[in-house]
Amino acid sequence: MKNDDPIYVAQPTMPPLEEFIPYLEEMWRTRILTNGGPFHAKFEAALCEYLGVKHISLFNNGTIALLIALQALRVTGEVITTPYSFVATAHSLLWNGIKPIFVDIDPESLNLDPGRIEAAISPQTTAILPVHCYGHMCDVDGIRAIAETYGLKVIYDAAHAFGVRTESGTILDYGDLSVLSFHATKVFNTFEGGAIVCPNNTIKKRIDQLKNFGFIDEIHVVMPGINGKMSEFNAAFGLLQLKRLDAALQRREAIDARYRKLLQGIAGIRCLPPGIEATPNYAYFPILVQQAYPLSRDGLYQKMRERNVFARRYFYPLISDFPMYRNLPSAAPANLPNAGAVAETILCLPMSSNLSEGDVDRVVSCIAD
Ligand SMILES: Cc1ncc(COP(=O)(O)O)c(C=O)c1O
Repeated sequence: MKNDDPIYVAQPTMPPLEEFIPYLEEMWRTRILTNGGPFHAKFEAALCEYLGVKHISLFNNGTIALLIALQALRVTGEVITTPYSFVATAHSLLWNGIKPIFVDIDPESLNLDPGRIEAAISPQTTAILPVHCYGHMCDVDGIRAIAETYGLKVIYDAAHAFGVRTESGTILDYGDLSVLSFHATKVFNTFEGGAIVCPNNTIKKRIDQLKNFGFIDEIHVVMPGINGKMSEFNAAFGLLQLKRLDAALQRREAIDARYRKLLQGIAGIRCLPPGIEATPNYAYFPILVQQAYPLSRDGLYQKMRERNVFARRYFYPLISDFPMYRNLPSAAPANLPNAGAVAETILCLPMSSNLSEGDVDRVVSCIAD
């Protein structure tokens, strides 16, 4: 890479094109393009094995998977969620006619703070929708305790958490359902794609029907489903992607370590501490630009852009500041001081398995010089 080539916040990991050609030839031969074809079946099985989960339902993207996860559990009324996420998290509630209730985040983990959930529960509350932000595990025990006490469902937005493991297994086993995204910017991508991790075959079957218009057989439609199916192209690509995933994750770990080493000692720059998970996925590299730094966060963001380095302000603005949410009482900035403070100082540095050591050094030099 030339020294001034653009460096983007994320760049998809992709296999060599020639390795994908045989998969395409197979599709051209069978002419099965979608509706649960052979690649779809193989990819579901391979993902279950890789992730260490029992049942998974594939989707065309993570947003539709979130919408369907809420439908499948018949979530209604009010749902407690975080303002510090990608906007799709809360949009999935509005699309289901559910009122989001924003609760502040923990200032260290940047995940929903279980200590603040109880006060936000009303007679209408039916579920909690937390996010494993940046792939860092939520306080799953704290959230489970509250959910059990109040009889609430828990759906984890695990869009950032592909491959994250705890001491005892996958992070995707917590809650009633977990939702993944395989968008191009994610640790694991299928161009576009997503999935719901299901605890048993009964709920998987219902989810499979919901993502296929509500068909239960050739002529019976028993619910108002949607088209959330993953195509054979995306499934085949995912199958191929799995082969190189471990190498990509190792590369991310090395980049994370290099950033931490090089950024150490720069006054006013704080790296987010590692999460509590046993096996992280190094999905993002967020820093907090604090007062001791000579530039504001936006000043640094601009300076980097001028040097062709495209960091991103994930997550700014807060979801609760967007027009369709900001009039909700729970969206008031006074209710969300931690999320508000982090949104003003956060900057995600470029992170992908394609970054060279020289690229990382160039990103850091924008911050240090
Ligand atoms: C936290 C979070 N939730 C949901 C989504 C939506 O996923 P998708 O883009 O696959 O629809 C994304 C990312 O795009 C995300 O970052």
